[in-house]
Amino acid sequence: MMLVDPQKLKDNFALVAVNGVDVAEYFYADLFAREPQLRSLFPAGMSKQHEVLLGALSEIVSTVDDQDELVPFLRDLGRRHHDFGVLDEHYAPVGASLIATLAYFTGPGWTEDLERDWRAAYGLVAKVMSDAATELVS
Ligand code: HEM
Repeated sequence: MMLVDPQKLKDNFALVAVNGVDVAEYFYADLFAREPQLRSLFPAGMSKQHEVLLGALSEIVSTVDDQDELVPFLRDLGRRHHDFGVLDEHYAPVGASLIATLAYFTGPGWTEDLERDWRAAYGLVAKVMSDAATELVS
C-alpha cells in the first residue's frame, strides 16, 4: 500500500471533499456518460448513493496508511459489490471517473504526481475488492 504518499492523498481529498455532494453528482454524471449501461445497476434515486460513496471514500482515504483496517473493509465492500452485480471490468471506468472528478475539483492544483498516486491507490483498492469478489465464485 505504500507506493504512494498517504498524506498527499489525504490533503487532496480534503480539498475536494469541501464541495460536498457536488463531488458525487459530478462523479456519477461522468460515469453514466462514459458507460451508460452501468446506470441500471444503481437505484433510480441516487441521493443516498451520493452520501454512501463520499462516506466510503473518506473512510478509505483516512485509513490508507492502516492496512489492518483498510483491507477487511475493502474485502467486505468488494463482496457486497459482487452481490450488486458489479463485475471486474466495471472497476476501470469507475476509476477513470474518480480521477476525472478529483482533477475537476482540484482545479489548477492538479498535477501528474497526484494523478499517478491516485491511480496507484485506486488500482490497489479495486484489486482488493475484486479479488474478494472473485474468491466467492471460484
Ligand atoms: C473505490 C471503489 C468503490 C467504492 C468506495 C464504492 C462504494 C460504495 C458504497 C459505500 C456502496 C453502498 C453499499 C455498501 O456499502 O455495500 C456502494 C454501492 C454500490 N456500488 Fe460502489 N463503490 C466502489 C466501486 C464500485 C464499482 C466499480 C461499481 C461498478 C459499477 C460500483 C457500483 C455500485 C452499485 C451498483 C451499488 C449498489 C447501489 C444500490 O443498489 O443501492 N461501485 N458502493
